[in-house]
Amino acid sequence: MFKTVRYEIASSRLPEEFDGFRIVHLSDLHGKRYGKRNEILIEAIDRENPDLIAMTGDMADTSRGAVSRLLELCRNLRRRYPVYAVMGNHEQALKWPVQSGLRKRLEKMGVVLLDNTCRQLRWGQGCINLYGLATPMVYYKELLGEYERGAHFSVNDAKKLLGEMDSAHFAVLLAHNPLYYPSYRDWGADLTLSGHIHGGIIRIPGKGGLLSPDLTFFPKYDGGLFAEKGKYLVVSRGLGNHFLLRIRNPEELVVVTLRRQVTGPSENPGCFCG
Ligand SMILES: [Fe+2]
Repeated sequence: MFKTVRYEIASSRLPEEFDGFRIVHLSDLHGKRYGKRNEILIEAIDRENPDLIAMTGDMADTSRGAVSRLLELCRNLRRRYPVYAVMGNHEQALKWPVQSGLRKRLEKMGVVLLDNTCRQLRWGQGCINLYGLATPMVYYKELLGEYERGAHFSVNDAKKLLGEMDSAHFAVLLAHNPLYYPSYRDWGADLTLSGHIHGGIIRIPGKGGLLSPDLTFFPKYDGGLFAEKGKYLVVSRGLGNHFLLRIRNPEELVVVTLRRQVTGPSENPGCFCG
């Protein structure tokens, strides 16, 4: 079973109309099912009463039935919620006809795939921007040499893919891989939602996650909420499993509530985990 983890993010840049806006953040399901038709997961999402569902990749992979299970889940969610998504490295690794079919069917059911694009969300007179990053596979470091070694995703790379950040509006960025968070932050994302790291696979008390998918020990952005330079990163520890192994590291459903900060700036204003 998964646990539900809730965060509140406070920013003076958030329009007051979005105060209390709730995002359910799904990541790294890897085709897992909670109940025969994912009804346990769907009921847990319904209890959170979200305004929007954000998927940050690796919801499906090459395992048998994973793509159809994701499509069934999205079909159910779309009946009630707007759903925005980016692809992770495991969806990008699907054979092209499968990946292309997945994309077409998601889009047909109304899931918005944010492939280096931006959608404006309006709530009354208020407006925020939702961006999604689709990075080439070379930016997923991999020790076995499948992908390019030494790749680094810079702020300029973010500008090339996403364009200049529209600083007039609060920006939420969906980016599967949190490894390059400093570049997303310096590009201007007020809140980044990521996954990919699976909480570091094995949680060591007092030290955090042991290992990232690229086999880096104790990755910095292993899971949870990070506040840097007045901006935020939430890394989901994921809803599923790729390595068949999680120790002291339960799967999690993440819920992020946006709050308008009305007091003066501080280094880590108004956020808590619960
Ligand atoms: Fe991933």
